[in-house]
Amino acid sequence: MRTITKIAEMRSASDWARTRGRRIGLVPTMGALHDGHLSLVQAARSACQCVVVSIFVNPTQFGPGEDLAKYPRNLERDKELLERENVDVLFAPEVQEVYPAANTTWVNVEGLSDRLDGRSRPGHFRGVATVVAKLFNIVTPDVAFFGQKDAAQLAVIRQMVRDLNFSVEIAAGAIVREPDGLAMSSRNVYLDAQQREQALVLDRSLKEIENMHAAGERCAASLIARGMQEIGAVPAVKVDFLEIVNPDTLEPVESVHGKALVAVAVWIGPTRLIDNVVLQADDDT
Ligand code: PAJ
Repeated sequence: MRTITKIAEMRSASDWARTRGRRIGLVPTMGALHDGHLSLVQAARSACQCVVVSIFVNPTQFGPGEDLAKYPRNLERDKELLERENVDVLFAPEVQEVYPAANTTWVNVEGLSDRLDGRSRPGHFRGVATVVAKLFNIVTPDVAFFGQKDAAQLAVIRQMVRDLNFSVEIAAGAIVREPDGLAMSSRNVYLDAQQREQALVLDRSLKEIENMHAAGERCAASLIARGMQEIGAVPAVKVDFLEIVNPDTLEPVESVHGKALVAVAVWIGPTRLIDNVVLQADDDT
């Protein structure tokens, strides 16, 4: 695996691969890699001849008072994991390389960026869309891989690609969970043993909603009430939002027909965790 830290060098590596007819796959990450990230890397490995993983803790997507300074960083361990997955290139630029001066050009996906996580984290999706646009321009991938874990982010990226005519295919990977159901996240390391146990309520509440939906309930308010009841049973867990929305527009739905995204975000102490499930019934049209 080759580690590249400079934009110019990354561009030549992509040019080199492309002139040899290799399909370039990009997996953007902020490092502190876990099996969720690695599942995307494996999907990229099986679909592409040149796999690029980026590790960049993007300062512009963190709000004031968020965890930018303490975000887990472990480049040496990440490198070992990526070597094992036969990744071709690790692109790990410094902040100075990506943002040499104060950024004045932003990619703002209007509407979507103010929903779900974007509502709780103003400016977050502007930072995400901007850095992903930069990565697309630097790496010029044929396909880029994102996790369904960050469902709102996925919707924002898809919309950006459509609106700005990026020539990249977006592939989504399923949520990878710990054996007990907790969705893997780099932020899970913030949880102590008790909070780790409390965090299981995310998966539990989504499963309750799924079951109720499978039993025929279509009213979003009733499904949400059931999930809120489950979370309410663990007082240490504070709900940021629990919503049922259209997966593309992220607009709330009143009644669930076709595909609907159930997205939940909670605070456990100072840690914010998210999870989601997509509802789809065979009998729906
Ligand atoms: P990060 O949180 O490191 O996540 C990188 C990718 O891994 C994202 O596409 C995310 O959805 C996916 N991912 C995280 N946990 C997952 C899980 N349990 N199962 C499946 N996929 C999972 O998301 C970001 O970084 C950043 O916002 C980024 C897109 C890199 C822009 O800075």
